[in-house]
Amino acid sequence: MQAGAEQRGQWSSKIGFIFAAAGSAIGLGNIWRFPYVAGENGGAAFVLVYLACVALICLPYMFAELALGRNTEKNPVGAIRAITPRSLWIAIGILGVLTGVFILSFYAVVAGWTFGYIFKLFLTEPTPFTEFIASPWTVIGLTALFILFTVLVVYGGVSNGIERWSKLLMPLLFILMILLIIRSVTLTGASAGLEFLLKPDFSKITGKTFLAALGQAFFSLSLGMGLMITYGSYLSKKDNVITSALWIASLDTLVAMLAGLMIFPALFALGKAPDAGPALVFIVLPEMFREIPLGNLIGAAFFLLLSIAALTSTISLLEVPVAYLVDEKRWKRKYTVWVVGAFALLLAIPSALSQGAVGWLGNIGGRDFLSLMSFLWGDISLALGGLLLTIYIGWVWGVSNAAEELAKGSTFFKSRPFGLPFTNAQIWAFFIRYVCPVFIFVVLLNVFGVFG
Ligand code: TRP
Repeated sequence: MQAGAEQRGQWSSKIGFIFAAAGSAIGLGNIWRFPYVAGENGGAAFVLVYLACVALICLPYMFAELALGRNTEKNPVGAIRAITPRSLWIAIGILGVLTGVFILSFYAVVAGWTFGYIFKLFLTEPTPFTEFIASPWTVIGLTALFILFTVLVVYGGVSNGIERWSKLLMPLLFILMILLIIRSVTLTGASAGLEFLLKPDFSKITGKTFLAALGQAFFSLSLGMGLMITYGSYLSKKDNVITSALWIASLDTLVAMLAGLMIFPALFALGKAPDAGPALVFIVLPEMFREIPLGNLIGAAFFLLLSIAALTSTISLLEVPVAYLVDEKRWKRKYTVWVVGAFALLLAIPSALSQGAVGWLGNIGGRDFLSLMSFLWGDISLALGGLLLTIYIGWVWGVSNAAEELAKGSTFFKSRPFGLPFTNAQIWAFFIRYVCPVFIFVVLLNVFGVFG
């Protein structure tokens, strides 16, 4: 193995891996992005398409990324290079590395808001959210602070500090969310929100719904840019990849659904519109905290835990480009972490200023700059990376190689379900070769208006 590998550390156990990968998956994507994307795309109809995308496209795809990572024990570029040296396919890995930095750039802005809200909730006369995110120095400062936290953790090694912390704090976030759901659904007028989230209006499903759902599913599960290749590369051959992936996907989906249950009843009870965009959660939650005894304390705790959930995600976003530069370009890890962090901060500035601080950044072709970045890198680039990687793994590396890898540690994978004439591995191969690429391709074509 190459120089950087041992510095990156190995998961101490299967559960350590599940926590790290679930920590990457669970973050602002579930609690901030999922509700606002669902709100913009018709609620329950979107949720239904989302769940179908997770189960039928993302889960089989996640097995594939993990298989490639564990097999090659490398970052996304190194993994592809190990299988097809000096081929154009390496570009997929490069796209993944770039996507990591760009997602980090806008993600850190929102993480900065989250961090700022820990303190803001203690003020008796807090400035409204729209004013808060329009103050340039505050948001840039908070973004910088958040990137600094990320750099310090990745700098010091992921396994000790953050793994131990997230094991303790993620269950706390979960409990707090349950409590907030109870408050949310018992507000008067909450039932309209439950209906919005759970009772699908099928006429709201359009081509746009599919891209939004697929993009959100890739984003939320940390797929499409080789993160699972990178994290999979630290797995041992004894680990069961199949059950690990099932855990990660289930936990992530559960947290997204809980976030929906927390936000929408309160939103409708407060008489607000569900399509408020990226500001949604930050507008609804503080108002709900006002309705709760010790609300500012509970609110501060909530934003603290959410900041930590965001941190376990930004760590993974930084880890992919860092792993690439250390492994492939032989950069020194400690220096790399600072350089990539500084670069991400630079890229973050226009996103940070796009929420009211600088007027023209608020409207670039109908979207603010942050939403534009979220769309380009969080939806399009991940779906494109996913498309190319399924083709690569299904047809170039080959499903039989991948299936061999997945069967290590999982006897289930080679067995025949319900006495059927084919194995789980064969069903999976069919999904990877045909279902996933065709579906993603059609969804992407639709973005470019091919179907009118
Ligand atoms: N999944 C994270 C979230 O939902 C965001 C994220 C972290 C991510 N690492 C990623 C998204 C890698 C795509 C790829 O908040």
